Amino acid sequence: MTRPSISPVTPVLTKRWLSPNSWTLRTYEQLEGYTALRKALAGTPDQLVELVKSAGLRGRGGAGFPAGVKWSFMPKEPTKPHYLVINADEGEPGTCKDIPLMMADPHSLIEGCIIASYAMRANHCMIYVRGEALHPIRRLNNAVREAYQAGYLGKDILGSGFDLDIVVHAGAGAYICGEETALLDSLEGKRGQPRLKPPFPAAAGLYACPTTVNNVETIATVPYIVNGGADWFRTMGGEKSPGPKIYSISGHVEKPGQYEAPLGTTLRELLELAGGMKDGIPLKFWTPGGSSTPMFTAEHLDVPLDFEGAAEAGSMLGTTAVMVFNETVSVPWAVMKWTQFYEHESCGKCTPCREGTYWLAQVLERMVEGHGTQEDIDTLLDICDNIFGRSFCALGDGAVSPIVSGIKYFREEFLALCRQNTGGMKNPGEPELV
Ligand code: NAI
Ligand code: SF4
Repeated sequence: MTRPSISPVTPVLTKRWLSPNSWTLRTYEQLEGYTALRKALAGTPDQLVELVKSAGLRGRGGAGFPAGVKWSFMPKEPTKPHYLVINADEGEPGTCKDIPLMMADPHSLIEGCIIASYAMRANHCMIYVRGEALHPIRRLNNAVREAYQAGYLGKDILGSGFDLDIVVHAGAGAYICGEETALLDSLEGKRGQPRLKPPFPAAAGLYACPTTVNNVETIATVPYIVNGGADWFRTMGGEKSPGPKIYSISGHVEKPGQYEAPLGTTLRELLELAGGMKDGIPLKFWTPGGSSTPMFTAEHLDVPLDFEGAAEAGSMLGTTAVMVFNETVSVPWAVMKWTQFYEHESCGKCTPCREGTYWLAQVLERMVEGHGTQEDIDTLLDICDNIFGRSFCALGDGAVSPIVSGIKYFREEFLALCRQNTGGMKNPGEPELV
């Protein structure tokens, strides 16, 4: 795990991260922990939904759907059990914000879960964590135990009459289980594959009951909104994308890590926080929100990294996983590595993604090995065109992003690679030509 590197700009979500034993209940309570819960339980569930709506909190898992609006889809008169499911599967390449948050400040997530469950009349909450993340799972389990012992979980929480149980569930390390409906299938003990939407989870989610799936950072933000209020929250970020955000910065920077800053912060500003480009070697390309978001170049240093800014510049905010690459990196090589990842992680349910990612990886491998032709570039774009918008879930669309944007900005580099081809077409596995 990268070390936490905290921005001096807006230490809200990360304000406890460097306190001694920040993950313990004792430290959490000393630093205002569980004060928001008391406040929330004194009001009504609907007041909380309205508060989160008026704060404009948008989902921090990548899609940016307004959290309060999502909560309002849950039925008000429970006829079946309601569930809150926390998506802690964090699998998007380059993304490393939820795991550090759960390691450094697990009680902020737990407090957020209790408040959100109360708002949605849910008495069961599951936190679905990547199976490989053993330390966060242990730390969360310890924090849940502490919360039960202190009366923050279980029956009649703080004398409010509200009951909640939290279960920490370990996934098995499949990228697709970060897709909310595949995650629900996995929780139910089935093979994790996306379900058809609608129905959305609020109508039929876990065990066909009303369910809301929210990202870790989204829910950990809720106690601050309850304590600070919607107007305070809106003093950070832009009108449509308010609030603080944890950007995970990796790659060729001097100090990779997690940096908290208001939504709308630019890469130029983030690079200053991260100590600049490593060894002063110039920037070549970068991703604003993981490999599923179209890449940017040095021309995009001043794009505001919020949902609108990234979209206007032709990409997406995604998970704010900023992967930075300097001039020494070959774009076709990087694109090939990402494509191999998607090929491996494609769940196989739909043909465009299952066959398309396999085919894309084959063509890119051939190119990078020096056996590509100029026609291969058109072939890549044609396959991407047949995957994008025709796949069952967002994985297919995400898989083509690095290829389409890589060719858009660095076509000459792909062409140069193909011009070097002296061996003709080669299928992977064929013996080298001599
Ligand atoms: P989405 O836009 O389909 O849905 C976002 C959320 O809003 C979901 O919870 C969905 O149920 C809800 N929603 C959307 N329309 C709705 C409606 N009409 N009624 C009720 N609820 C509705 O996006 P999706 O597929 O959930 O997520 C895609 C994003 O996930 C990508 O943009 C990518 O950035 C991100 N991602 C994040 C990863 C991570 O590790 N955090 C991994 C892979 C992708
Ligand atoms: Fe599975 Fe890919 Fe189809 Fe999604 S797009 S359902 S991951 S095969």
